Amino acid sequence: MSTTHKIAVIGGDGIGPEVVTEGLKVLDVVASRFNLSFETVTYPFGTDHWLATGGTDGGETFPKSAFEEVKANCDAILLGAIGDPRAPVGLVEHGVIMTMRLGLDLFVNLRPVKLYDRRLCPLKDKTEADVDMVIVRENTEDAYTAQPTFEHKGTPDEVASQPMRYTRKGTERVIRYAYDLARRRNKDKKLLMIDKANAVRAHDLWTRVFAEVGTEYPDIAQEHAYIDAACMWMVKNPEWFDVAVTTNLFGDIITDVGAMIQGGLGVAASGNIHPGRLSLFEPIHGSAPKYKGKNVANPVATVMAVAMMLDHLGHTEAKTHVESTVARLLREDAIKSLSAGVQSTSEIGDLIADALA
Ligand code: IPM
Ligand code: MG
Repeated sequence: MSTTHKIAVIGGDGIGPEVVTEGLKVLDVVASRFNLSFETVTYPFGTDHWLATGGTDGGETFPKSAFEEVKANCDAILLGAIGDPRAPVGLVEHGVIMTMRLGLDLFVNLRPVKLYDRRLCPLKDKTEADVDMVIVRENTEDAYTAQPTFEHKGTPDEVASQPMRYTRKGTERVIRYAYDLARRRNKDKKLLMIDKANAVRAHDLWTRVFAEVGTEYPDIAQEHAYIDAACMWMVKNPEWFDVAVTTNLFGDIITDVGAMIQGGLGVAASGNIHPGRLSLFEPIHGSAPKYKGKNVANPVATVMAVAMMLDHLGHTEAKTHVESTVARLLREDAIKSLSAGVQSTSEIGDLIADALA
């Protein structure tokens, strides 16, 4: 038996805990099949916990002691979803998700866009071969982490701002990661940089760094698109994409487009990664509060997040097994849909677990 990986598990809000239960069911089966060992530690963080510990009156999102414990002891984190209308917009998201992204310096948000069954694609005449790309989203900078300011709040002269802010180091490390990935993937050997340098002049930093780092990768072709055009091409010609790198905010937006062309939020997963260090894996979808506790949410995206986690922990073969098994179940109609309510959450989890074993 190999070393035991310690996994922090945060179900979070809405359907998060239910889909995570199925993800862990899959992890269990993979562990016995590949002779791996995992120990999980569950944390209660999310809106229920925030309310139970005081809510607006000092409620906890991710207490520092728990954060330090995870940081010191765990090899990976599996997160369900955060978001609940009972808390102010963004408060728990910031307290839990952003605390981990920033506190663990998870500078890569890795979002594969892969179509497993052509019938899931809303685009006309596109096949599995046409939708197979990875978006590398910067994950620690941009408007996401700049301070918001409000001047003359509540008056007709109010001015609100939250600048897009990029550091040379932050830009360089994510671009370098993307070049390496394009090389490792060995698909078309090209890297597309997506920005908006024609309007946001600060993106000139991205333009320069992309070209400079690119000199170290003569085997990787450099491509460029503005974010508006990139959204258009992704829908019109997804086969043009291999690896793309972009800023935090644009990456957030374009990966939702990506999720749609691979079959929807029911299948899209992501890794918040610091290479070689403790990293966080989660489905891209939100907490879908209206489905909470009903056993109707589709757990496939969480299972794919577990696959990404396996890959990060060095278990490539196990990752491939999970991925190809889910793809087969989709193609064979065993998993009938990626939408909520067609089959129950636990039924899909059982199906995948049985097929993996
Ligand atoms: C995502 C989500 C988050 C983000 C939200 C919940 C803060 O949309 O992971 O893409 O914008 O990063
Ligand atoms: Mg998003």
